Amino acid sequence: MRIIGTGSALPRKVVTNDDLSAFLDTSDEWIFPRTGIRSRHVISDEKLEDLAVDAARKALTDAGRLPEEIDLFLCSNVVNEYLTPGLGCIVAAKVGLNCPCIDINCACPGFIYSMDIVETYFMAGKVKNVLVVCAEEPTRMTSWQDRSTCVLFGDGAGAAVFTEGNNVKGIRLNAQPDPDKIWQFRPLQPTPYVTKTETDVPLQMNGREVFRFAVTTSVRDIQEVLGRCGVKLEEVDHFLIHQANMRIVEGIRNRLGVPEDKFATNIVDHGNSSSASCPILLDECNRRGLFKPGDKLVFSAFGAGLLSAVALIEW
Ligand code: UT7
Repeated sequence: MRIIGTGSALPRKVVTNDDLSAFLDTSDEWIFPRTGIRSRHVISDEKLEDLAVDAARKALTDAGRLPEEIDLFLCSNVVNEYLTPGLGCIVAAKVGLNCPCIDINCACPGFIYSMDIVETYFMAGKVKNVLVVCAEEPTRMTSWQDRSTCVLFGDGAGAAVFTEGNNVKGIRLNAQPDPDKIWQFRPLQPTPYVTKTETDVPLQMNGREVFRFAVTTSVRDIQEVLGRCGVKLEEVDHFLIHQANMRIVEGIRNRLGVPEDKFATNIVDHGNSSSASCPILLDECNRRGLFKPGDKLVFSAFGAGLLSAVALIEW
């Protein structure tokens, strides 16, 4: 398969580090050097599905495809206001898709997990045009009294359209199951038979361990995928790394020994938008005209699970 269109959409509300320090014991002096973030787009009165629809429509237009030409839709999402149906069905209804919708919850590497699933459909000859949308509102998961988590996240949606081709060179999905490192608990409806006490727990994260996991797994898996595909590090044109923390991106870049100009970033004014992060970055680079046909792109993402993934594709 190959990518023929991209799109993205961000909430209108921009929250700066200084805005946060008005109600939290934090500061730009703490946040920026440790994360690379100065501001983030935050859901206020928009609905996540409308951002997802906007990103999807832009990707379809960019790809020159009509909604009725799409024969599979994957939606990557951790949380939204509905428990059922999946966000994919809600988005599909608004976009006018008439195809199977699959929702996945693979946290931050959701875009690469989606690409792996979609590629399998192409290899089986079951599809011709596929839409992937990653839409996330992690700012609805954190406690806004918890300065160690809420300063890190931003919301948004990113999308890509895939058609037949031979441009996916290699993908590696990885799981190191360890649910205690990033988690959130939301009680279900009580019943007459549930006797345990259940309370909401906002997003919890062991930042240091996630940081270590991210750098280690990303470097190892990028080297493994490139080695398997017979591609040298210096032959890669662009590294699109999950925008979780600028220090994580820098840690990966330094260990690989790759020049800075091959690592596009947007964390400074986006924060971490979970699985939407990679396709938003992809769309912004695409619209800036950064990619030439034949360019080699490496994606790498990591997050709750702990899950991680790397993909090598040709533009
Ligand atoms: O998609 C993957 C999602 N997760 C991640 O990417 C997270 C990866 N981890 C990280 O990015 C970093 O671990 C953080 C940015 C979350 C934290 O950086 P750190 O250097 O590991 O700091 P820390 O958690 O060890 O905290 C150091 C100090 C603590 O104070 P004490 O205990 O030393 O007095 C914190 O209370 O910094 C304090 N602190 C803050 N201070 C001001 C934590 N958050 C803040 C804050 N403002 N926002």
